[in-house]
Amino acid sequence: MEYVDLRSDTVTKPTPEMREAMAEAKVGDDVYRDDPTVNKLEAMAAEKLGKESAIFVPSGTMGNLLALLVHCQRGDEVIAGNKSHIYLNEAGGMSALGGIQPCPIPNQKDGTLALDDILASIRSEDVHHPITRLICLENTQNICGGVPLTADYTRQVGDIARKNGLALHIDGARIFNSAVAQNVDVKDLVAPADSVMFCLSKGLVSPIGSLLVGSGKFIARARHLRKMLGGGMRQVGVIAAAGIISLEKMTVRLGDDHAHAKKLAEGLRRIDGIVLDEDSPHTNMIYFNLAENLPLNAPQVAEKMKALGVLVDPDDWRRFRLVTHYWVDDDAVEKTVSAFKEVLH
Ligand SMILES: Cc1ncc(COP(=O)(O)O)c(C=O)c1O
Repeated sequence: MEYVDLRSDTVTKPTPEMREAMAEAKVGDDVYRDDPTVNKLEAMAAEKLGKESAIFVPSGTMGNLLALLVHCQRGDEVIAGNKSHIYLNEAGGMSALGGIQPCPIPNQKDGTLALDDILASIRSEDVHHPITRLICLENTQNICGGVPLTADYTRQVGDIARKNGLALHIDGARIFNSAVAQNVDVKDLVAPADSVMFCLSKGLVSPIGSLLVGSGKFIARARHLRKMLGGGMRQVGVIAAAGIISLEKMTVRLGDDHAHAKKLAEGLRRIDGIVLDEDSPHTNMIYFNLAENLPLNAPQVAEKMKALGVLVDPDDWRRFRLVTHYWVDDDAVEKTVSAFKEVLH
């Protein structure tokens, strides 16, 4: 059966154009910096985000970890949202591998960290305290509904960081979704940040890869640490070739995914038993709960949806997150709405 797959935008398979570019890619040993396709991708990424330099890494998790390791020493503390991917879903890498302590503070409903909370969590100079070194934001904020953070908010957090001698890192796994949703240049969204990680392998459709961008000095250190973590890759232009198409062509079409998410949400809103989150969707993610009186739980609904050709991932016992992407078109949206109608009635 041909499935509609709404579990995540990470399920996107490369396009035929990407597969052709991958087959034809000029390659070299990237640890020697000899791979022209990787060099091109890194230069494009740095330019697009308005930073000096970039490094290609196998995953978003490695990109975030490298940023944490470069910014922090062992025993330092990082302020991050209690619903952030860095805090919740990166296997505790900062603590296990960097000896870094997270200082989680509440993500507000709009995905932000309250400025007062950030200020209150910066440690004073005291031999008893860890040293606060870094603030992390996530844009778009996944668990808060895929909500985009504004350039103005990010600037305010950047000001706090600067005044207190801290660095600012943005987990921008979906930063281009944020830029497209707000109709702003991605450079403006990340200008106050010292480093940004973004993923090619989500809405940008590449099979593998993320980029970490920052100053030349920062990226030089990240390159050393990437090797230490075993992330130094060789003829990796075969993957970077897809990434170039992601940057050139996929960043500008994300509005289609957002429009499909809106259309899907409109269909779902009319179904008894589905309680959509207020304002959902903001970008390419739709979050909703099952009504309390519904006898089925989310795993049972997911099982029945699968039998009708639609893959959906329960986010919780009675909650779903659906994600639109390149391979979800109008027909897929209609098929999904019909399947939910059938399952819930
Ligand atoms: C917000 C966010 N940050 C980072 C990551 C990590 O990316 P990867 O799965 O490539 O390690 C993800 C993955 O889903 C994510 O959603």
